[in-house]
Amino acid sequence: MRAVVVESFGGPEVLKAAEVADPTPGAGELLVKVAAAGVNYIDTYQRTGAYPMPTPFVPGLEGAGEVVAVGDGASRFKVGDRVAWGATIGSYAELTRVHEDGAVAVPDGVESDVAAGAMLQGMTAHYLTRSTYPVQSGDTVLVHAAAGGMGLLLTQSIKALGGRVIGTVSTAEKEKLAREAGADEIIRYTETEIAPEVRRLTDGQGVAVVYDGVGKDTFDASLESLRVRGTLALFGAASGPVPPFDLQRLNAAGSLFVTRPTLAHHVLTREELDWRSGEVFAAIQSGRLTIRIGGRYPLAEAARSHDDLQGRRTTGKLLLIP
Ligand SMILES: NC(=O)c1ccc[n+]([C@@H]2O[C@H](COP(=O)([O-])OP(=O)(O)OC[C@H]3O[C@@H](n4cnc5c(N)ncnc54)[C@H](OP(=O)(O)O)[C@@H]3O)[C@@H](O)[C@H]2O)c1
Repeated sequence: MRAVVVESFGGPEVLKAAEVADPTPGAGELLVKVAAAGVNYIDTYQRTGAYPMPTPFVPGLEGAGEVVAVGDGASRFKVGDRVAWGATIGSYAELTRVHEDGAVAVPDGVESDVAAGAMLQGMTAHYLTRSTYPVQSGDTVLVHAAAGGMGLLLTQSIKALGGRVIGTVSTAEKEKLAREAGADEIIRYTETEIAPEVRRLTDGQGVAVVYDGVGKDTFDASLESLRVRGTLALFGAASGPVPPFDLQRLNAAGSLFVTRPTLAHHVLTREELDWRSGEVFAAIQSGRLTIRIGGRYPLAEAARSHDDLQGRRTTGKLLLIP
């Protein structure tokens, strides 16, 4: 089969499409013909070695496709079923092995490419807005990179919960998309200082929660934008990791909360995986949640997908189509 292989860590150029042996499913595993694989920021951290990986490896944690074989003891799915997953390495390939415990059924009416794009980021938006800080009706919320894959999903989720969204974006095109997703206010953070504008838009109060996947470049402004006892959910580092900081700042700025959550700790049981993925798929089916596919790339152009994502040239969800 064709797959993208990383032989050694580095820039996007280390993502090379190659002919490799077909995988065979082990005990409890499914062999899946991949219809689409999601491109995620974590793939870039694994590609560079910022998140250590054994090499060589086939990247990609997220995807959807059709079961073509089942391993010993796998009983939850059968050949022909459509499944999706959000935490199984090896998705940038024509075929991949997925343990049945990490797979969910793709419901009728949800296309496989949409399902591929819904798992990792959709469930992340779910846990951030339901569990990390449960958004209440009337809360004002700050979402950075509001036209990105996570940003568009967070914005829609917060609006569905009755919140008011202040989004940050870098360009007019991104502003338009974020507003279409429901953002009430937009700050062009490349031109306007974030925290004073947030204070102005909240009558000096600050926001209940900041969802910050940008990291190094926005962290200080995120803290300065919070109301007393507000929460900073730092869920990523698109601009680089946040350096160590003095916890006393949380006291001085209003008894703030800071957390650095990750999806793996929010789908710990089958019940939790089914609950979060089920609610994401139900929202898609009912039209309340749109997965905006911002780019589709063949496996041979995986490097370009990472280059575009890290170069701030993308909006919405990126997919690789084997
Ligand atoms: N913790 C979790 O469970 C979890 C799960 C999924 C994703 N994430 C995190 O969520 C974040 C967003 O992921 P995504 O895939 O949806 O990406 P994305 O938001 O579509 O792309 C990143 C965006 O960040 C903004 N940005 C600001 N400064 C940047 C810089 N110096 N370099 C690159 N981008 C910059 C850009 O938007 P503007 O041009 O508008 O500034 C860019 O388009 C990532 O940090 C990712 O690690 C975390």
